[in-house]
Amino acid sequence: LGYFTYDPGFLSTASCRSSITFLDGEKGILQYGGYPIEELADKSTFLETCYLLMHGELPNTEELMEFTHVITYHTMLNEAVKRFYSGFRRRSHPMAIMVGVVGALSSFYHEGIDIRNAKSRMIAAHQLIAKMPTIAAWSYRYASGLPFTYPQNHLGYAENFLYMMFSMPTEEYTPDPYFAKALDLIMILHADHEQNASTSTVRLTGSSEANPFAAVCAGIASLWGPAHGGANEAVIKMLLDIVESDNDVAYYIDRAKDKDDQFRLMGFGHRVYKNHDPRATIIRETCHELIEHLGEGNEYEELFETAMELERIALEDDYFVSRNLYPNVDFYSGIILLAMGIPLNMFTVIFAMSRTVGWISHWNEMIQDPESRIGRPRQLYDGALPREYIDVEKRT
Ligand code: CMC
Repeated sequence: LGYFTYDPGFLSTASCRSSITFLDGEKGILQYGGYPIEELADKSTFLETCYLLMHGELPNTEELMEFTHVITYHTMLNEAVKRFYSGFRRRSHPMAIMVGVVGALSSFYHEGIDIRNAKSRMIAAHQLIAKMPTIAAWSYRYASGLPFTYPQNHLGYAENFLYMMFSMPTEEYTPDPYFAKALDLIMILHADHEQNASTSTVRLTGSSEANPFAAVCAGIASLWGPAHGGANEAVIKMLLDIVESDNDVAYYIDRAKDKDDQFRLMGFGHRVYKNHDPRATIIRETCHELIEHLGEGNEYEELFETAMELERIALEDDYFVSRNLYPNVDFYSGIILLAMGIPLNMFTVIFAMSRTVGWISHWNEMIQDPESRIGRPRQLYDGALPREYIDVEKRT
């Protein structure tokens, strides 16, 4: 191989140094800035966690107030951006709209950004974090034929998103504090996960010194796939399928084990976690609490029970045990989102909204890193050997 190694899927390649997130897949440990995810989930808020990821330290009261103010201040979109939406097909997948709109923001924020200047990078980061809920909610509103709703800056980050999603001009709407808190937790758990496919995509795109809005747009595109952020949508489709079909859970487990069948148990398995995904443990508990909060006989109970049965059978099955396949963060998150009234095709959009802080923090870290260079993997060429060009009329 000469001076490089063959590592498809980067299973054993560290592409950078990073001090943002620590992950030990063997022990099931996840920490942001040294703080265990369990503690942040229990005590922190999404905006405080954003500050931690961006600055490496938790904010003091004054810093948190200032940060919250800045994020609130940037929630509006330029009115011209609104017109972009009408170019999309109605009923488009909101992720398709989000990719387009975030990419388009680079036309509004380009000349003013000096990526070598720390303050300028911070402003771009604040703009992205602040505008993402508005872009996300408007993707849904447009795809559903509903009027756009403007952010309400007296509301918290999660509440504001719920407000923009569900409020109607015809009646008063107050976001449910229980749902806002659950959404805030989901966002903390999704905020960063070191060098996953979408974050690596943002770093790779940004390594050419591309516009940060364009780099984040590339991250959103990468997240969309069902093997990554699209899994939360796929899990619910799978669970609904199981609930509605005549086949029992064991049938789906058998399908997932069958190598001739493309079907995989969605929300199961992870490239790094080989013991358990600590986010899944937290989210299962939250999901359980929510089901109890909604009261007996609610329509999500059956989905939750089906998910638990799948988990139980899979974790006793040699196929899953021998391959270290456990539920990941997406296995239970979808049930919570569904119970909030969030449509299925918005699940990955919410993941993107939450992960934006991780993407932009990694971009910021990379730009400052003196060891960082343009990303340029090598390949093993196995195509044709050198040969002579044959004129088209002589080709057989
Ligand atoms: N169902 C059935 N078999 C599976 C599954 C699954 N969900 N996941 C992995 N396997 C098998 C796979 O077939 C392979 O078997 P064998 O060794 O016999 O060929 C073995 O386990 C290793 O799998 P892999 O595909 O080589 O592992 P990977 O690290 O490349 O992929 C993964 C990781 C997450 C893409 C994969 O586990 C998967 O497709 N899971 C379902 C999708 C999913 O839930 N994705 C969300 C990931 S967590 C949220 C996020 O960070 O985006």
